[in-house]
Amino acid sequence: MKKHSVKTISLLLVLILITSLLSACSSDPGNSGTASGTETETQESAPSEASSTPEEVSADESAEVASEESAEAASDESTEVSSEENAQDSSSENTEKQTSEEPAEPVSKVLVIYFSHTGTTREVAAYLHELVGGDLFEIVPLKPYPEGYSAALDPAKKEQRENARPAIKDPIESIDQYEVIYLGYPIWWGTVPMIIHTFLESYDFTGKTVVPFATSGGTGIGQSVEDIRSEIPDTEVPDGLLVRNNEAIAPWLQELGLIQ
Ligand SMILES: Cc1cc2nc3c(=O)[nH]c(=O)nc-3n(C[C@H](O)[C@H](O)[C@H](O)COP(=O)(O)O)c2cc1C
Repeated sequence: MKKHSVKTISLLLVLILITSLLSACSSDPGNSGTASGTETETQESAPSEASSTPEEVSADESAEVASEESAEAASDESTEVSSEENAQDSSSENTEKQTSEEPAEPVSKVLVIYFSHTGTTREVAAYLHELVGGDLFEIVPLKPYPEGYSAALDPAKKEQRENARPAIKDPIESIDQYEVIYLGYPIWWGTVPMIIHTFLESYDFTGKTVVPFATSGGTGIGQSVEDIRSEIPDTEVPDGLLVRNNEAIAPWLQELGLIQ
């Protein structure tokens, strides 16, 4: 009885050994039915690894996946870093821009604007501008008057008779920023040339100060200042100056408290 059971056990062991050997021989990773697409790709793309055991393959794969993940993470990180760097770069660029940019020029609150036919008032305006600073602008008629004093008399008289508003060529865009406006002109027929009315009617002078100055062949400035005042009643218009000599300008401006 003992001998028989030993034999049976030995047979069983042999059977188990044979079965396990057979199963080991017949196990093929390609036919296992559990291979994923990734594994197939891995084998196709890496034939030298075909002899690896499933454990080895999966270990390799997990290593690959892990390295891919870490590569991705690294690339993500590097993207983040580079985008951070870019952000830093651009912010430092901005800082550079901000610091390298010239400080904005203060907006001028003073305007010297004038009309001149034969150049006398232009010279006075340039002199006055040196004293008061700010912006200098010339009022130019769209349709030029005939050159010279005598040639301009008739068209100017006609304009006055017709109460015309001669158009201005490239007029100043805005006078909003100015608080004090020096307005220069020649006396024509005892008052302002009609183009000065065009100018006064084109903008809002409310709350501003308009300081008249003029040149003439002999007539005073009085009537022209009255005409300006009635055109812009909500504007401070001090008594103007008829300039016969530039030396008179500074004392007049000091008297008005416009310069020191
Ligand atoms: C059409 C016209 C009318 C003028 N009317 C007068 C006038 O009424 N009284 C006066 O004293 N001078 C008069 N003048 C002379 C100018 O006022 C004077 O020459 C002025 O300085 C010219 O300035 P401007 O060179 O800036 O144009 C007149 C000149 C012109 C062309």
